[in-house]
Amino acid sequence: MGSSHVDLSKRHTEKPSFSPEKLAEVQALMNSYPEGKHKSALIRILHIAEEEFGGWLSIETMDYVAELMNIQPIEVYEVATFYTMFNLDPVGKYVFEVCRTGPCMLVGSDQIIDYIGEKLNIKVGETSSDGMFTLKTAECLGACGYAPMLQCGKKFHEHLTKERVDEVIASYREGKVPN
Ligand code: FES
Repeated sequence: MGSSHVDLSKRHTEKPSFSPEKLAEVQALMNSYPEGKHKSALIRILHIAEEEFGGWLSIETMDYVAELMNIQPIEVYEVATFYTMFNLDPVGKYVFEVCRTGPCMLVGSDQIIDYIGEKLNIKVGETSSDGMFTLKTAECLGACGYAPMLQCGKKFHEHLTKERVDEVIASYREGKVPN
């Protein structure tokens, strides 16, 4: 294991700002709730913010969302820090969330986590030196029958073996979503 994780800045250099299209989407989401209840759109809006601003939520991004929604920043922080699917630190282009709950652990998720770490020269929570991959662990992702597995974005990669991990990483490196 080396210390090759990327030393990414934890702050954005520019104030975040949605494109007009995303702004319209955010507005429509807030309008879909009864008057005074628009805060119910917060989780979906945070997902959009994460997609738009590099895959993670900086303080500036959360403050921007609070300003847009006319709510207090703390109301955004408490949601963003509660749900583990939000990234509060910079991440790589692809985030591997490897399930480590019982059924996956029984069929080798620990070995898969170790193998990915060795292959990318990172520990859990770190990003590869090329900025491509972040390794995280997750609790049951609802695919226990296909264990061991990992989630990357919306894609599940199941029945993982070392060979399968090699294929998955190689495909992402080529810019292709693995089958
Ligand atoms: S235990 Fe891994 S998906 Fe359920």
